[in-house]
Amino acid sequence: MTGPVQMARAFDDLADGYDNDHHDEIARALVALAAPADAEHIADVACGAGAAALAIAQGRSHRGTPILAVDLSAGMVAAGRLRAERLGCDRAIDWRVGTAVPLPVADADLDLILCTSSLHFLGIRALADWRRALRPRGRVGFTLPIASRFRPSGPFADLVSADVPLPETAEDARTLATAAGFIDADARILTVGSRSVVLTVATNPAVPGCSGPRTPIVLGIDDLRALPRATRIARTSRDGILLLEEHRDREIDELWLDHDLGGDDSIMPVVALLEEAAFDDHPFEIGMIFVHSANPSGAETVVRVLRRWGYRVRRATA
Ligand SMILES: C[S@@+](CC[C@H](N)C(=O)[O-])C[C@H]1O[C@@H](n2cnc3c(N)ncnc32)[C@H](O)[C@@H]1O
Repeated sequence: MTGPVQMARAFDDLADGYDNDHHDEIARALVALAAPADAEHIADVACGAGAAALAIAQGRSHRGTPILAVDLSAGMVAAGRLRAERLGCDRAIDWRVGTAVPLPVADADLDLILCTSSLHFLGIRALADWRRALRPRGRVGFTLPIASRFRPSGPFADLVSADVPLPETAEDARTLATAAGFIDADARILTVGSRSVVLTVATNPAVPGCSGPRTPIVLGIDDLRALPRATRIARTSRDGILLLEEHRDREIDELWLDHDLGGDDSIMPVVALLEEAAFDDHPFEIGMIFVHSANPSGAETVVRVLRRWGYRVRRATA
């Protein structure tokens, strides 16, 4: 079981040896893409040693509202504060130790939210909170590692959230932002040394729920997990089939599948339904299927079978 205490401890332990050069380069690229205006009210979410906040504060002439920089790890925040003092811009940053989800701000308070190298630790619920915290037409910028090149080491592997689908392409990152209700998403891949990330910038709709896209339909078929993003969850293959039948002629944005569903039950009857539909030239309309089972061979079978029938399928961390 992991939680905020384990998260803070892991990053406290890392603070002195943190690779600031690498993360600063990513943050500078994201800041350049987001192009903050001088007087904007900005948050650096899960700021660590302040890579994004420092990138903005150093070039800022405005001395108004400081950049809110919040992180669970007191060690990382202390390291960030020291860096800011050395650079002479500590007063431009409001450092806070605490959880970043929800952000400690009122609704529609912020013009710009930046989150570098952290969303995959925060979990997908952070995106909904950013929609709340941003003013209409406010912007969000985040970076995520490329799925196939991401190798979290040691204790960090357990801290990565299972519900953030890491992008393989810039298009995947745009999809993640728009599925959360953001508009005008722009994403690009940045390679720093041997590591690659996707930088994404997107806009909060002008009128919540109006000019943005419709609420995404996210279905989950899983006997145990909470799947916080799912709009509907079925716990057995039988209920999963009923759930899919109910959405037969509707666009499903995401479908999350577990392989083992408890006892003798598995996802395979659901997979057979999806196969039959494709065989009949009437496949289900699904933006992306995420297979997030802890059973690797079962999950691989599901991925292989569904891809063969033309569905877009991705393995997600269980
Ligand atoms: C890989 S570091 C990135 C730090 C910084 N944004 C950067 O680009 O260098 C991830 C950070 O997320 C923080 N973090 C993880 N979950 C958090 C949460 N729920 N609230 C606040 N900070 C969190 C960790 O403490 C850590 O400092």
